[in-house]
Amino acid sequence: MRIRAAVLNQMGAAKPYAKSKPLSVETVELDEPGYGEVLIRIAAAGLCHSDLSVINGDRPRPTPMVLGHEAAGVVEKLGPGVEDLKKGDHVVMVFVPSCGHCLPCAEGRPALCEPAAATNTAGTLASGQRRLKRNGTPVHHHMGVSAFAEYAVMSRRSLIKIDPELPLEEAALFGCAVLTGVGAVVNTARMPPGTTAAVIGLGGVGLASLLGAQLAAAQRIVAVDLSDAKLALARQLGATDTFNAGESGVAEKIREATRGGLDFVFEMAGSVKAMELAYKITRRGGTTITAGLPPPTATFAIPHVNLVAEERTVKGSYIGSAVPLRDLPRYIALYRQGKLPVDRLMSDRLKLDDINLGFDRLDKGEAVRQVIVF
Ligand SMILES: NC(=O)c1ccc[n+]([C@@H]2O[C@H](COP(=O)([O-])OP(=O)(O)OC[C@H]3O[C@@H](n4cnc5c(N)ncnc54)[C@H](O)[C@@H]3O)[C@@H](O)[C@H]2O)c1
Ligand SMILES: [Zn+2]
Ligand SMILES: [Zn+2]
Repeated sequence: MRIRAAVLNQMGAAKPYAKSKPLSVETVELDEPGYGEVLIRIAAAGLCHSDLSVINGDRPRPTPMVLGHEAAGVVEKLGPGVEDLKKGDHVVMVFVPSCGHCLPCAEGRPALCEPAAATNTAGTLASGQRRLKRNGTPVHHHMGVSAFAEYAVMSRRSLIKIDPELPLEEAALFGCAVLTGVGAVVNTARMPPGTTAAVIGLGGVGLASLLGAQLAAAQRIVAVDLSDAKLALARQLGATDTFNAGESGVAEKIREATRGGLDFVFEMAGSVKAMELAYKITRRGGTTITAGLPPPTATFAIPHVNLVAEERTVKGSYIGSAVPLRDLPRYIALYRQGKLPVDRLMSDRLKLDDINLGFDRLDKGEAVRQVIVF
């Protein structure tokens, strides 16, 4: 079938993107779903910094590629071998199509699935195939999803069926921002009630962590960003203290205000600077968690003796160490009870044609989660 999709032809375009248009919205061909695959009508897709990192080249991926990995939609057609979904089912996409059979999957850590990591890097579906073409030439898939398009074909493993009562625009955010941000708190950090937290970087992911820290009954939540508007929003969402990362001596100020730092500090900006600050404001015996994805060349130095003598822990968190089939229904139930107000993370609704403008806003730190509505 012929569909409209946002194709990234080349990484590293000049800014502003509204002018250079790195994503070209055009008509491409989408093949029928193969074995174990499903055709989805995309209803909503969020703009995540990880998409922006492919556009600007921080996360190199093969091009041409249809981006978009945070989305929700409706099952349109089943490929052979898919028997547990039906036309009309509502689904959220998960950007690691875990196989269920490799060692990390067997250990209960599907976010680390090895075959899925390999096909995501190659820009194919879990089957190793590409179902997108332009003038007969294959186009790559982003994280097995490629949701900046009217329709997508993807592996059954990329889909979690959800209750159709949940609006699909909100459902989209659960696939990346919520799984990642809340999961970093409840799965990766396993914050005990009454402990203290800081979140550095208040985009969709970081603000989801802030909501997660409240769920975890944190007694104090320090929010840090470079944007005062984000700090104001964080306060509305329950941050007890806010600091602008651009202030001089901010690490010392936070350490002083918190009498030596926080129990759990979440780096959700994707920058080494933010990671260094996160490590500095973690207290003795505390844990620094990062979900940030800086360029592959970025490194971060830890004072070795301090790690030892203060018994510090540094942890990475990929998709919030999620088991999506277990976690998504939990987070959706909490959302419905008003305990996880994920809808507050949605800053704008966009048309597919305005996608480049949306990425300019994300790049400037002006938006939280913008969602393309189809
Ligand atoms: N680990 C995962 O599974 C996973 C999933 C999704 C996103 N990510 C990554 O998480 C990060 C956040 O994603 P997002 O979509 O929320 O991004 P975003 O661009 O919406 O938000 C990032 C925020 O960090 C702030 N920031 C930038 N530099 C800072 C600094 N030095 N100090 C303090 N704040 C700073 C920005 O002002 C912005 O508000 C990105 O690196 C993204 O690639 C990881
Ligand atoms: Zn994402
Ligand atoms: Zn696996």
